[in-house]
Amino acid sequence: MDLQGINIGYALTGSFCTFRETINQMKSLIDLKANIYPVFSFNSQNIDTRFGKAKDFMEEIEEITKNKIIKTIEQAEPLGPKNFLDVFVIAPCTGNTIAKMNSGICDTPVLMASKAHIRNNKPVVIAISTNDGLGANMQNIGDMINKKNVYFVPFGQDDYVKKPRSLVAHFDKLSETIFYALKGQQLQPILREYI
Ligand SMILES: Cc1cc2nc3c(=O)[nH]c(=O)nc-3n(C[C@H](O)[C@H](O)[C@H](O)COP(=O)(O)O)c2cc1C
Repeated sequence: MDLQGINIGYALTGSFCTFRETINQMKSLIDLKANIYPVFSFNSQNIDTRFGKAKDFMEEIEEITKNKIIKTIEQAEPLGPKNFLDVFVIAPCTGNTIAKMNSGICDTPVLMASKAHIRNNKPVVIAISTNDGLGANMQNIGDMINKKNVYFVPFGQDDYVKKPRSLVAHFDKLSETIFYALKGQQLQPILREYI
């Protein structure tokens, strides 16, 4: 899979339980010689949880990617006019962020960056992770999946017994999804079981 030299805007929103998985994927992309430009939502920057401290995640990601995290709306806006990203990834993407994206709301660095990138008619890759994917956010996922230039990392029900409405992306399919998205194709099948 050739992703050498590809410029990837890589956003993290507040699904903290998946931060470790997404960092592992970032490392894989860097091994493939892609360039990663990280973006954090305000909540990702400010909320410490049982999964780790926001500051520690940010330091680790700056160390891995060798790039400063985009942390403000004003830092994110130039991604549009500079037009140097090949693809914009949101991994993890919360229910909150996908709902706002689908409604045209732009009030976080991640939403600003994605809006700036979308204006350039280039692919956006979404790795959903939300407990209400088969509930309140099902409509937003359905709308977004149907939009031009939007591709989903294959996802499924991560725990249908305890969280019957939860949907989480298979993060190990991220690189492949990006590879196909860059060719204008959706990696299939989108719906995959957790075993
Ligand atoms: C410990 C913890 C875990 C969370 N996990 C998720 C999650 O997996 N998916 C999700 O959609 N929201 C999750 N949330 C809620 C989001 O962080 C919250 O909706 C926040 O407003 C998201 O903002 P953002 O989308 O701008 O990052 C979690 C919150 C906390 C405190």
